Amino acid sequence: MAVNRGLEDVIAAESSICKVDGEKGHLIYRGYDIDDLAEHSTYEEVVYLLWFGRLPVKEELDKLHKELGANRKLPEDVVKAMRMWPKESVPMEVLRTATSMLSMYDPDANENDRAANVRKATRLTAQMPTIVAYWDCIRNGREVVDPKPNHSTAASFLYLLHSGKEPDEVAVKSLDMALILHAEHELNASTFAARVAAGTLSDMHSAVTAAIGALKGPLHGGANQEVIKMLLEIKELNNVEPYIKKMFADRKKLMGFGHRVYKVQDPRAFHLRKMSEALGKRANETKWYEMSARVEQLAKEEKKLNCNVDFYSASVYHMLGIPSDLFTPIFAISRIAGWAAHILEQLSDNRLIRPEAEYTGEINLKYVPIDKREELVSAKN
Ligand code: COA
Repeated sequence: MAVNRGLEDVIAAESSICKVDGEKGHLIYRGYDIDDLAEHSTYEEVVYLLWFGRLPVKEELDKLHKELGANRKLPEDVVKAMRMWPKESVPMEVLRTATSMLSMYDPDANENDRAANVRKATRLTAQMPTIVAYWDCIRNGREVVDPKPNHSTAASFLYLLHSGKEPDEVAVKSLDMALILHAEHELNASTFAARVAAGTLSDMHSAVTAAIGALKGPLHGGANQEVIKMLLEIKELNNVEPYIKKMFADRKKLMGFGHRVYKVQDPRAFHLRKMSEALGKRANETKWYEMSARVEQLAKEEKKLNCNVDFYSASVYHMLGIPSDLFTPIFAISRIAGWAAHILEQLSDNRLIRPEAEYTGEINLKYVPIDKREELVSAKN
């Protein structure tokens, strides 16, 4: 049996949720091109599309808005617990732990049928942005305000993050588009983790908690905060070239570049690049966009590397005034849509996910009593 390191090129599931065409650079959610959805849709419409397989009619979308609005508040005990956690906790740790804790307060916690799982997915989609926004308030000693039921996901997040200050329309629209672009991406590492957990017939909260843990790593969702860290270190446009050339000379990886599946430009980067430029112009602070564009040009020239979704999302969130360690949690509050769609799909025709390993260790060893092991260890060394 051939071993595919990192399961590269292995088809591990049939799915009708999302197609990633890495050769052509196309991304399709349930038949719709991401460019079309990014330009014309809303995050809530995309949530409905991913979970139910088609775009909603008005009443269906209104109902989803209402259910999300009614579920954004966190159980009192979860907020109390968050207040007790160390203030320096990484927001992804907080999101992972609070999400797991929510299952103990969920009325459907022990139900695993589709209707109960859709209700749990709806609650998680509503609650996760509140966790992230509240944590930033709690750790910085700002007031925690109640969510407004009529807010969209993007508006609610910004409103709660800024302790009850109504967000402006451009910020809401930009974040909404970023949420659409991050909502789903086939069998990426965190989605696979979610499907593996769901496949054991564990529960929705466990599967989402596993996914959050996988997303946290810098080779996956964690890359976007590494990008802004790098841009802040570079400081000025003039410093970009020596900084990037040194990185390549030191054989360091450039965060926000490269992709396991895309061999050409990540189609999501196109929209985020435009957004980064527009937000920079609007704020009269084009430096972050210009530095990013120069990094992109050098990466292409020197290493033929294309940027991925994480690269320009960093300057977009920075221009929206979002603290850098909330970038990966924002990825999670969007990707819950895709994770839930995959958990529902996995459970609709479940088979335990259990691959095999090619054993490369020893065989036929005989147990050695502990008082004889020193000789054995020194003989081996
Ligand atoms: N910077 C520099 N070189 C890179 C690179 C990057 N971001 N991404 C890939 N490469 C190079 C590797 O060094 C390797 O070169 P080599 O064959 O000379 O050793 C080659 O391209 C293949 O890379 P590899 O890491 O083996 O590919 P992968 O499919 O396992 O990895 C990623 C995909 C995403 C993990 C990888 O591109 C990466 O680490 N990117 C940075 C993190 C990031 O942005 N993650 C978010 C993904 S959406």
